[in-house]
Amino acid sequence: MSEMKRLAAEKALEYVEDGMIVGVGTGSTVAYFIDGLARIKDRIKAAVSSSEQSTERLRAHGIEVQDLNATGPLSLYVDGADECDGHRRLIKGGGAALTREKIIAEASKTFVCIVDPSKQVGILGRFPLPVEVIPMARSLVAREIVRITGGQPVWRDGVVTDNGNWILDVHGLAITDPVGMERDLNQIPGVVSVGLFARRPADVVIVGGEPPVVL
Ligand code: A5P
Repeated sequence: MSEMKRLAAEKALEYVEDGMIVGVGTGSTVAYFIDGLARIKDRIKAAVSSSEQSTERLRAHGIEVQDLNATGPLSLYVDGADECDGHRRLIKGGGAALTREKIIAEASKTFVCIVDPSKQVGILGRFPLPVEVIPMARSLVAREIVRITGGQPVWRDGVVTDNGNWILDVHGLAITDPVGMERDLNQIPGVVSVGLFARRPADVVIVGGEPPVVL
């Protein structure tokens, strides 16, 4: 699958325009994108990063990383996903970076999602849905998730997000109404963000292959 990820990432480079400040996601597919971006780094102004992991890789390539508060809205955000449906709605957060990813996606005009073919599903939910929670609310949020969704939340023990929070992974879901579930879970006190990207889906999905498929 790594070659498929690389092919998707290479295709995404076509969306980068001169002088851009590029929003950059997190994960193994994005790592290929960052490596590609390094080849054309003189053409871009800077990047905004969704995680410490991506920041480190960007800086190692000599790409300047700017604060989203300083840049204002972005033209382009490129990120991976854990699942993608036919409406370009996503599950993200397998790498625990969902909150910053959601913030940058919201701030961006065009969100290009890069995936390998294994990420495509008919109905979201086979991949456990990540939910970032304030640590003191973990049990409360878990109980509410069971009540609202019927799914089984599992604490990703030992993982602390870049924001100092914890992750619940919700198993056993078949998400037939992603927009409704995203809205409902966002209402629970203690939820920082939900790894469903349905209200603001990707604008373009690139599925790696020869040739890559653009959805
Ligand atoms: C990070 O929190 C996630 O949202 C990633 O975008 C997702 O896990 C994709 O990762 P890979 O590109 O490593 O499959």
